[in-house]
Amino acid sequence: MFRINDNFTKLPASYLFSEVARRVKAYAEAHPGVEIIRMGIGDVTRPLCPAVIEALHSAVDDEGRAENFHGYGPEQGYAFLSGKISEYDYKSRGIDIEPDEIFISDGAKSDTGNIGDILSTANRVAVTDPVYPVYVDTNVMAGRAGSLGEDGRWSNIEYLPCTAENSFVPALPVGNPDVIYLCYPNNPTGTTLTRSQLKVWVDYCREHGVLLLFDAAYEAYIREADVPHSIYEIEGAKEVAIEFRSYSKTAGFTGIRLGYTVVPKALKGLDSNGDKVALNPLWRRRQTTKFNGASYLTQRGAEALYTPEGQRQMKESVDYYLENAAMLRAGLAEAGYEVVGGINSPYIWLKTPGTMTSWEFFDYLLDRYHIVGTPGSGFGPAGEGYFRLTAFNTHENTRRCVERLSGK
Ligand code: MLT
Repeated sequence: MFRINDNFTKLPASYLFSEVARRVKAYAEAHPGVEIIRMGIGDVTRPLCPAVIEALHSAVDDEGRAENFHGYGPEQGYAFLSGKISEYDYKSRGIDIEPDEIFISDGAKSDTGNIGDILSTANRVAVTDPVYPVYVDTNVMAGRAGSLGEDGRWSNIEYLPCTAENSFVPALPVGNPDVIYLCYPNNPTGTTLTRSQLKVWVDYCREHGVLLLFDAAYEAYIREADVPHSIYEIEGAKEVAIEFRSYSKTAGFTGIRLGYTVVPKALKGLDSNGDKVALNPLWRRRQTTKFNGASYLTQRGAEALYTPEGQRQMKESVDYYLENAAMLRAGLAEAGYEVVGGINSPYIWLKTPGTMTSWEFFDYLLDRYHIVGTPGSGFGPAGEGYFRLTAFNTHENTRRCVERLSGK
């Protein structure tokens, strides 16, 4: 009989956010009429901005006319969008990223999960702890993780703890990893690294031949000058880093899906003969084979973000969420919680009160205050005793959340 991929059986039964959703659904069914404030998964609440809506309508009209109809598009994305990305997201910041180094996709989650396809399963991986669970779970699926220990750590993954003790700044690895995942502004802690702190990582990767997988899904939330928006702001990063970007949290595309990945032409890895091979053509080969391109409609929608109105409307939404983040951060700190994040980020990371575990605090908040957050331990062993709240709800609900948690 056929065999399955055993690696899947090693994984915890459900993905973190599916488990949270399952528990919330059960609670809601058992308590009809209770109004639940959702600050768990990082899903947005503001609708798509008018510039995007207008572009989407016009793209639908295109598809209704034979002369403008689009079937299969280029797997790497339409030039009308990759050109804008190159110009607005990179060249405007003095970074020379060309359109053929940009791969438009259905989102950063898929890309950070799929990128392992072009990497050897023999690579040793390092992640920050806590970490976005997709990085770890997809390496388990690929067979790179080893076995799960009782301490919640996979034997072949190096964990780089980010806790109050090190001010949430990971130390460089000591186990000679081949691949390192970094996400900044960080999911889940909401913390950032400055230019000089990121330079340490790029220099390390250059010196040791390590691939840096840099998730910049939250870059639009950066407001401080010393925090880079792109890893390519650091000299030499094009030789070691792949960058992932998303329109989900920036422009409300969590439902319609769109993101992109930058694979610089200068980035090379070794094949099994010890010869250097460029990753850009490998990723193109992977995408053209397994992906048929993001839809014409969504790409036209995203293109509208690169107009003056689109830029203004997008910033307005991000500012709205940042106001929530500030409200949460200040309100919870005043109520005595230890909090970080929420300055250049939509995530607030708080210490659970007393000796409560992350899941105990989850149950307590849901039951007592009808608030949903995400247990820190779901992001990794070093997240135990922490809890994540998102700033993606409305001002009204965010205010209610602060009032309830402050006992007002
Ligand atoms: C999160 O809540 O961490 C993110 O929304 C999950 C995702 O982007 O897939």
